[in-house]
Amino acid sequence: MTRRPPVARSLAALRRSLDTLRSRRATVALVPTMGALHAGHISLVRLARRRASRVIVSIFVNPKQFAPHEDFGSYPRTMDADLAKLAAEKVDLVWAPTAEAMYPDGFSTAIAPGGPALAGLEDRFRPHFFGGVATVVGKLLLQCRPDVAVFGEKDYQQLKVVTRMARDLDLGVKVIGAPVRRERDGLAMSSRNVYLSADERRSAPVLYRTLKDCAARLRGGEAVAATLEDGRRAVVEAGFALDYLEARHAESLAPLASLGDGPARLLVAAKIGHTRLIDNLKV
Ligand code: PAJ
Repeated sequence: MTRRPPVARSLAALRRSLDTLRSRRATVALVPTMGALHAGHISLVRLARRRASRVIVSIFVNPKQFAPHEDFGSYPRTMDADLAKLAAEKVDLVWAPTAEAMYPDGFSTAIAPGGPALAGLEDRFRPHFFGGVATVVGKLLLQCRPDVAVFGEKDYQQLKVVTRMARDLDLGVKVIGAPVRRERDGLAMSSRNVYLSADERRSAPVLYRTLKDCAARLRGGEAVAATLEDGRRAVVEAGFALDYLEARHAESLAPLASLGDGPARLLVAAKIGHTRLIDNLKV
């Protein structure tokens, strides 16, 4: 078996490990995760490996990005399996802070992102979410001080929020986006897919199929509004409760009335049973 990577759980241990990692002009990449690692996460690790000589993966289920009614308590936690996967990738360090290390007693500071964090997509349905993400990612970047940080396009709005934050706060890190990894039937890989019943799992690829159909129609010159209307209907008819299906400017996330208004991205979020899924596609 491949040797497990060192795991730091306190800031003191992280600092000691970073001192060793940073010697001999190493460049450092950070891949932030909440664990329950799947092939999507591993694709980020491999991209990080190509961009830097040392790779750190953080694993922290961040309570601040879950609302009280959300799944913080039941979020899958699979540390042993995660470490085995990261060992196979020869990750140099795992930063898995305890809740106390990340948010010690009396913690009272937050990062409040604007711009893409207020685009009216995820933020409309999870108003607490990007504040929690920005605060923890800001801390992770300051704790690890990587040269590059890799985030998935799977969480497209999150990628834009983090990119903006790194620039706005002069964090001195290059944020890199990695393409969405999918199951064979098109379903975007997600730690939450384990929540799906067999029936729900069969319906789940409708999201990606709908994105592909809509993207093809838009590229063929069809109108945005009518295309999205049909897409929304297809998602609802497959048994989802739709939060949104939108066409947005790929960089600013501003609404797009026509494809002529700039590079476009389709973004969808919908619930099937108790599980909320998101996906997106370049047009
Ligand atoms: P998590 O959901 O664990 O995702 C960690 C990273 O993996 C994110 O950048 C996410 O976009 C990426 N990812 C997940 N599924 C993917 C897929 N199918 N293809 C490509 N990349 C994928 O996102 C978070 O954690 C948290 O919000 C975090 C950034 C760690 C802050 O707590």
